[in-house]
Amino acid sequence: MTADELVFFVNGKKVVEKNADPETTLLAYLRRKRILTLEWVGLSGTKLGCGEGGCGACTVMLSKYDRLQNKIIHFSANACLAPICSLHHVAVTTVEGIGSTKSRLHPVQERIAKSHGSQCGFCTPGMVMSMYTLLRNQSEPTVEEIENSFQGNLCRCTGYRPILQGFRTFARDGGCCGGNADNSNCCMNQKKDDTVTQSPCLFNPEEFMPLDPTQEPIFPPELLRLKDAPQKQLRFEGERVTWIQASTLKELLDLKAQHPEAKLVVGNTEIGIEMKFKKMLFPVIVSPAWIPELNLVEHGPEGISFGAACTLDSVEKTLKDAVAKLPAHQTEVFRGVLEQMRWFAGKQVKSVASIGGNIITASPISDLNPVFMASGAKLTIVSRGTRRTVPMDHTFFPGYRKTLLGPEEILLSIEIPYSREGEFFSAFKQASRRDDDIAKVTCGMRVLFQPGTTQVKELALCFGGMADRTISAFKTTRKQLSNFWNEKLLHEVCAGLAEELYLPHDAPGGMVDFRRTLTLSFFFKFYLTVLHKLGKDHPEDKCGKLDPTFASATFLFQKDPPANVQLFQEVPKGQSEEDTVGRPLPHLASAMQASGEAVYCDDIPRYENELSLRLVTSTLAHAKIKSIDISEAQKVPGFVCFISADDIPGSNTTGLGNDETIFAKDKVTCVGHIIGAVVTDTPEHAQRAAQGVKITYEELPAIISIEDAIKNNSFWGRELKIEKGDLKKGFSEADNVVSGEVYIGGQDHFYLETQCTIAVPKGEAGEMELFVSTQNTNKTQSFVANMLGVPANRIVVRVKRMGGGFGGKETRSTLVSTAVALAAYKTGCPVRCMLDRDEDMLITGGRHPFLGRYKVGFMKTGRIVALEVEHYSNAGNSVDLSRGVMERALLHMDNCYKIPNIRGIGRLCKTNLSSNTAFRGFGGPQGMLIAEHWMSEVAVTCGLPAEEVRRKNMYKEGDLTYFDQKLEGFTVPRCWDECLASSQFHARKSEVDKFNKENCWKKRGLCIIPTKFGISFLTPFLNQAGALIHVYTDGSVLLTHGGTEMGQGLHTKMVQEACQTILKRLEPFKRKNPSGSWEDWVTAAYQDAVSLSATGFYKTPNVGYSFETNSGKPFHYFTYGVACSEVEIDCLTGDHKVEGAFVQGLGLFTLEELHYSPEGNLLTRGPSTYKIPAFGNIPTEFRVSLLRDSPNKKAIYASKAVGEPPLFLAASIFFAIKDAIRAARAQHADNNTKALFQLDSPATPEKIRNACVDKFTTLV
Ligand SMILES: Cc1cc2nc3c(=O)[nH]c(=O)nc-3n(C[C@H](O)[C@H](O)[C@H](O)COP(=O)(O)OP(=O)(O)OC[C@H]3O[C@@H](n4cnc5c(N)ncnc54)[C@H](O)[C@@H]3O)c2cc1C
Ligand code: FES
Ligand code: FES
Repeated sequence: MTADELVFFVNGKKVVEKNADPETTLLAYLRRKRILTLEWVGLSGTKLGCGEGGCGACTVMLSKYDRLQNKIIHFSANACLAPICSLHHVAVTTVEGIGSTKSRLHPVQERIAKSHGSQCGFCTPGMVMSMYTLLRNQSEPTVEEIENSFQGNLCRCTGYRPILQGFRTFARDGGCCGGNADNSNCCMNQKKDDTVTQSPCLFNPEEFMPLDPTQEPIFPPELLRLKDAPQKQLRFEGERVTWIQASTLKELLDLKAQHPEAKLVVGNTEIGIEMKFKKMLFPVIVSPAWIPELNLVEHGPEGISFGAACTLDSVEKTLKDAVAKLPAHQTEVFRGVLEQMRWFAGKQVKSVASIGGNIITASPISDLNPVFMASGAKLTIVSRGTRRTVPMDHTFFPGYRKTLLGPEEILLSIEIPYSREGEFFSAFKQASRRDDDIAKVTCGMRVLFQPGTTQVKELALCFGGMADRTISAFKTTRKQLSNFWNEKLLHEVCAGLAEELYLPHDAPGGMVDFRRTLTLSFFFKFYLTVLHKLGKDHPEDKCGKLDPTFASATFLFQKDPPANVQLFQEVPKGQSEEDTVGRPLPHLASAMQASGEAVYCDDIPRYENELSLRLVTSTLAHAKIKSIDISEAQKVPGFVCFISADDIPGSNTTGLGNDETIFAKDKVTCVGHIIGAVVTDTPEHAQRAAQGVKITYEELPAIISIEDAIKNNSFWGRELKIEKGDLKKGFSEADNVVSGEVYIGGQDHFYLETQCTIAVPKGEAGEMELFVSTQNTNKTQSFVANMLGVPANRIVVRVKRMGGGFGGKETRSTLVSTAVALAAYKTGCPVRCMLDRDEDMLITGGRHPFLGRYKVGFMKTGRIVALEVEHYSNAGNSVDLSRGVMERALLHMDNCYKIPNIRGIGRLCKTNLSSNTAFRGFGGPQGMLIAEHWMSEVAVTCGLPAEEVRRKNMYKEGDLTYFDQKLEGFTVPRCWDECLASSQFHARKSEVDKFNKENCWKKRGLCIIPTKFGISFLTPFLNQAGALIHVYTDGSVLLTHGGTEMGQGLHTKMVQEACQTILKRLEPFKRKNPSGSWEDWVTAAYQDAVSLSATGFYKTPNVGYSFETNSGKPFHYFTYGVACSEVEIDCLTGDHKVEGAFVQGLGLFTLEELHYSPEGNLLTRGPSTYKIPAFGNIPTEFRVSLLRDSPNKKAIYASKAVGEPPLFLAASIFFAIKDAIRAARAQHADNNTKALFQLDSPATPEKIRNACVDKFTTLV
């Protein structure tokens, strides 16, 4: 049978694809396709960040004519999950289609750029398209709608505040309130200071182009003309998969009878993931999306029936309408479904994913199935000649990912029932992150009372996350029929659930105690909620009364729209307009980033003969390689070669410590260790070929954790030590000594752009040009030269910009670039490799996990007299930068406190994990978190307020640190006092205490934390920088420098700097011709033979420190700061809300958790399992104030390093959470407020819930 033509539109241009492959995603097609007749050579504005629908970098707008609704609909979608075959007669709009710097930016693009919402810019096109789609549907959205539309978009750089601030200008309720509302954050309500002007406005909204909805591109008329044309079955044949688009229900059922094994694909949000990440192959795919019966919504007498292909977004809209229209008692179930939908994926997924897809996937952690099961929903199932309607009860899922459907059957529809009088329903979900996260436990709970009583007639409690399928706890519920809704029932149900929902300690998914406790906590919440709703109706004894201090446990999670403000010092009055220093300039490339024109490594157009590389890595943590078999790989179309250590012409030894190999030769030392690589014609073939390489191993014992390493004495190098004073004397003088330990987990960099390299051999004398996303051009060059055995001058490394780095591309980028260079050398062709997110997370390592064992001696007053800390870091399988990371931890173990007698010891644990590396803060945050941990214990032990003890121990101006560096311009006390005042700390504290007294199951905590962060590298030669400037005769300037741009605006700063240098040279020509232009002066200078090239060199003066002698100056200067955070925790679920944080640190200390199997296999390899902060995590109230009048005398233009220092301030959230947990424990446990307890970082919901010991935790 011949394949049909696929017809769709991209940015108004018609695309006819004769060879549509069902395995091709829209993203791959947009980025790689060359259609020269359409002048379309790769639309690379749409980015690849994860390939699994989890980051939103690939967001596009899809528009189609909806025949049932009789109108054009626009919705956002993840291009990385959309198969091109699903796009027949659909119009695609990408970031390039709405505006450009060449013509005119769209207001959405302009506003994100001007509001500083684009730093590295890699997430920006996705953000733009999410906002654009919202505006196409709703030209005056609310702030809440804006926030909701970003649930599926991640950014790792901006902390989200500037993005929201910029886009809020589109909101009908988001503009300036003019100081009229009672809003202390309003720009009009900021206190004025007569001497210096502080400004909260980075931009002036009045300068923005207005949004004119009438100017948007129209829906292609050709598609509109087809709206009534009959649809016919289509068939697309790919290399391995056939896609059949059925146009009628009969066709669909016939196809299912012919191909019972065929998968039905609607949104592809399950199947797409299975094909890409679980490497599954489905040879026949049938699409039911066009079939009217599967898209119908019918309001029946018992409930609303939804066709199985209805999207979750449309289900949500229908249910919202029903809730608004129907009496409340009829919509209990609908509200439960809507509550689950609130936390279900992002807009892009919900717009395409179907309700039927969720049910039939039968995921054990489906959010909807427990709700449907508890509600008594009915399913209609059809096949050729049969039709049946079944209740979705405990028999519907007979096993893991199984349903009652026969092979030829399909789900036609689901009926969600109206609730009845006396019926109550709740749904709960607990995940690590609120937005777009997989549930740990999810549930639906329903009770129906005998009319007019509180006697149970029906009770259903259904759970996801507690077994290999959705389950109903019917053993427990059955026993409660006819019982009254009171304490006795509560206790019996909790005891019953604890027994019936038992999980063994090694249950898949882990977190066993947390999950079991959650089931009880959820029931308790349901119990209270029902009591609350029954309220005054049943005052008699049969029903328990709701204790007012329990009421807040029933409140659903609500988040107020974030109110954020950043105050900075304005330039002095009279500063010339041309003088840009001190002005908040938008990032130079932000407009191009917002329009998708900014070129990142993988956006460089493909070369004619370019090849793709895919790494082959170890699946074991420690093993001997016995054999490598590439025969299966060779069968994959487009296979070119396999490369390994044997192909290296120079040296296979690499790494900063010369302790790594480019390709493992005989032995592997971590899961993800690179053994070889396949080279093929396309990335898809490379992925298949890499899977075909079979390696056999002989397994060796592995060391995974810090504890394992300590036990086995497995360390890199010698112990590092720093010591001052007399420790023995200090401890003997102390009134009290406390010792303990704290563990700080690692962190993945999660730069939005994964590691990427293109190597282009020049065919002459070993010359090669590499385009690399790296922070380290120097090592990239020298490692490649060493591997190829050529002088370094043959290797040119180019970095235009990076989509984020944060230390992750400082050395680990060379793993990829060196391998790619070898492939280019061997094949003689340009070779490209961009790691998939899962590979990147597996191979490249991250922040070092730390274990701190401390002993601290102090007086009754809280004054510290002696401190000893042993620091252990998990360095992984090579030394890389681990020594530098540990040195920095040791030099920050005091945070801001003067400790007369101190000893710090550091050991680098040698383990079988991927080598850990640099990450923002470089060990400083770990060292300081340990410091604040013992500091909080000192305060608790002394019974003194923590802020008082912290202040008492703080350094003073001119003090010497324990490494004898004098503190000059020590502004921490000033920051502290300003922060106490501006946060109204003491009033807030009374409020917190009052809240905690009045609320039994929600607690608040408050904490203020200082920080001092040393600037400059400890290795002296690293503290230098060079730049080369050429001014061309037409006046344009070319600047080459050793820094790399990854969002910090380096090019912007360098251009500011370069202009100053050149201006000086041109001064005489300006004087001669004052009315001339820049070009005139440049030409005159050229004609006068004045050099228009200049080099710049900078060396940080007087730095250099020796650990051996504890002498010399480690830092050029310090950056200081103070943060105050308030949090609220839900003691029953571990949920928390933050009011004050720095977002990457917030991730480190409260959210991001890497999980490894006991064998050292990283389990968290993408955004679905590893949660970085999303829009919903940013603080409700976030006020940042940059200290006024504190110029830095030690750096260019009085600038200050501010990228790394603030990260640690997010620890204030961690300790505020600990404070809240302490309040919860004091109430429920043994009431000993002085009892110390260990809380390891990150403080995830699991750790918080487990630490809030109460009657439920003791039941499991
Ligand atoms: C980023 C992301 C976030 C997610 N978040 C959540 C979440 O928070 N909660 C949650 O529960 N899920 C979540 N999911 C999972 C997924 O989105 C849902 O399960 C979704 O409803 C699946 O629908 P689909 O149309 O995309 O399925 P598809 O991938 O198109 O199909 C899924 C399966 O259903 C079968 N199928 C579909 N329709 C029928 C039918 N009518 N009859 C018989 N079989 C049928 C298919 O054969 C296939 O096996 C998430 C997925 C992603 C990628
Ligand atoms: S690349 Fe598509 S969502 Fe991340
Ligand atoms: S600007 Fe958002 S990821 Fe860098």
